[in-house]
Amino acid sequence: MSLDFVGIVLVDVIMRRLRPLKRLPPGSLGIPVIGQSLGLLWAMRANTAEKWIADRATKYGPISKMSLFGKPTVFIHGQAANKLVFTSDGSKMSNHQTESVKRILGDRCLLELSGQDHMRVRKALASFLKPDSLKNYVGKMEEEIRLHLLMHWQGKQKVTVLPLMKTLTFNIICSLLFGLERGARRDSIVQYFQQMIGGMWSVPVNLPFTRFNRSLKASAEVQRMLKQLISEKRIELENGASSHQDLITCLLSILGEDNQELMSEDEIIHNIMLIMVAGHDTSSVLITFMVRILANDPNIHAAVLTEQDEIKKSKPSGELLAWEDLAKMKYTWRVAMETLRTVPPVFGGFRKTLEDIDYEGYIIPRGWQIFWVTSMTHLDDNIFPEPSKFDPARFENPASIPPYCYIPFRGGPRICPGYELAKIETLVTIHYLVTHFTWQLCCNDNGYRRDPMPVPNQGLPIQIVSKEVL
Ligand code: HEM
Repeated sequence: MSLDFVGIVLVDVIMRRLRPLKRLPPGSLGIPVIGQSLGLLWAMRANTAEKWIADRATKYGPISKMSLFGKPTVFIHGQAANKLVFTSDGSKMSNHQTESVKRILGDRCLLELSGQDHMRVRKALASFLKPDSLKNYVGKMEEEIRLHLLMHWQGKQKVTVLPLMKTLTFNIICSLLFGLERGARRDSIVQYFQQMIGGMWSVPVNLPFTRFNRSLKASAEVQRMLKQLISEKRIELENGASSHQDLITCLLSILGEDNQELMSEDEIIHNIMLIMVAGHDTSSVLITFMVRILANDPNIHAAVLTEQDEIKKSKPSGELLAWEDLAKMKYTWRVAMETLRTVPPVFGGFRKTLEDIDYEGYIIPRGWQIFWVTSMTHLDDNIFPEPSKFDPARFENPASIPPYCYIPFRGGPRICPGYELAKIETLVTIHYLVTHFTWQLCCNDNGYRRDPMPVPNQGLPIQIVSKEVL
């Protein structure tokens, strides 16, 4: 039995003795180290994770304990729980990832930082990801999308959407954010990167045959390549390259009060790794599931097509989309929001308590993980009536949705800083797809599994017909 586990059991016993009225939440911590991790991971891969978690909520109520990815964990859910987690200042709980995420992405990535460090690094990233900067890059993004469709869609009869969307969103991140152009180096980063993300939600056992071990090795390789890329960017800057060229040159050029680079090299590398994961895995899932919705629902497809055709007709042939065109894609974005409600790419997340927290008559001990899950409010029929019905009209009046209930991008000071970038790439991609292609699903199976991101069965193969040459 591990010392960790003996410690946890002792805490449980002592807490019960010392605080008869403030007990640990109900539930079991399960087998040492493994706890309920395998149960959750199996449920994720079998497309029953939402049910697995909802069953716990029914059994134990608003708060329960378990053990996930090697740590004692308290699962809380609902609007009040989300508010507590998303708005707590750094004194009560810190942002916290599982041991595997921390070891793979690095301990200086935004997800691991708190307080002043978090604000400093977030501000630096946000300076590039804010709408004012991004509006200058719509054209560059559009070129990547057109090139992708020319290479992988045009002239084909059948394509598999998810892997293609992963390639597309990764290419957008590489060229727009990292200034890493197509070629052997980019291909080799992609290869290691795929291995790296395979073990991000795994039990952190570093033995030669584990997923975690393969991920760690791939992560070391990606970091080595990024280090090399950063030194090249430094030389480019010394030779007069613009600091606005890409995110890396932008980060290298931000100086602190002492006139030194504001971010350390480790911070730049770990945050590039984070953005590679956060920025491509999520948007690719959103676009893929939108493609599925558009194939399944002719009315939604017709409404999206009308909106996009009007925008296309309003422009001289061949002219690229402008920032103002994106603002007109209101219905298409509502379809995206409803897709994110029903299939949120991020299943949930973790925090770590920095002090004992009283919640719902129970105590969440200092040092434990808090686990929140997106679907708990997204599929609550008190918040979204008929939650299994796909209805973009829910978002016609966003003010009607109670705060901290629609959380695909989370909320509070750590709300996803990539929201605008995700919105632009989704809208531009859907614009090109509906105006240039028609498609139908090759299999009528509407299931998906989580790995940990949602993966539609077989990656969503579709038959396509080109309407117009790109
Ligand atoms: C549909 C697309 C996206 C979704 C649904 C999404 C969702 C999320 C969620 C739920 C979080 C919070 C995770 C947590 O607290 O544990 C997050 C954080 C983050 N996301 Fe996104 N994201 C998307 C796209 C992007 C893109 C395109 C980028 C980058 C270019 C990005 C960069 C980040 C970063 C850096 C964080 C950490 C923020 C912090 O801790 O302060 N995301 N995202």
